[in-house]
Amino acid sequence: MSITLFQLGAIASIFLAIHARPNDRPGYIDCLDSSECGRGKCCSIGMGRYSIPQCFAMGNLGDKCIPDNKLHKMTTLSYPDGSSMNLTNFYFHHICPCLDNLICNKDTETCEDPLFVSFNYIDY
Ligand SMILES: *[C@@H]1O[C@H](CO)[C@@H](O)[C@H](O)[C@H]1NC(C)=O
Repeated sequence: MSITLFQLGAIASIFLAIHARPNDRPGYIDCLDSSECGRGKCCSIGMGRYSIPQCFAMGNLGDKCIPDNKLHKMTTLSYPDGSSMNLTNFYFHHICPCLDNLICNKDTETCEDPLFVSFNYIDY
C-alpha cells in the first residue's frame, strides 16, 4: 500500500478544515455577517419567517434597490430544525444597497449615479 492510514487521516483533516464553516452553523446558512461575503457584497435576509441569509452583490448602476435599506446590527435567527444563531451587520429584502458611489432612486427603485438624479429624488 502506498498510502498509509495515517496519511489518509491527514488528508481527511485538511479536507475538513477547508470545508468547515465558522460557528458550526447549518449548511444552508450562507453568511452570518456581511464581512463574510467579501468586498462588494453583503449578507441579506428576506422578510419571511424562516428566510435564509445569503450573500448578494452590492447594487450596480441600473440594478434594483430598496430605498432606506439600512444596515441592521443584530438579530437572532431560529429555524424549524431547532438551530438558532445570531445574524450581524446585515440587510433585509434579499438585496444589498447600491455601491458607495451610487444612490437608490426612490421613484424608480434602481441604483443611479447621483450626478444624473434630481436632488428631489435622493434617498438619504
Ligand atoms: C446571540 O446574541 C445574544 C444576545 O447578545 C446572546 O445572548 C446569545 O448567546 C447569542 N447566541 C449565539 C448563538 O451566539
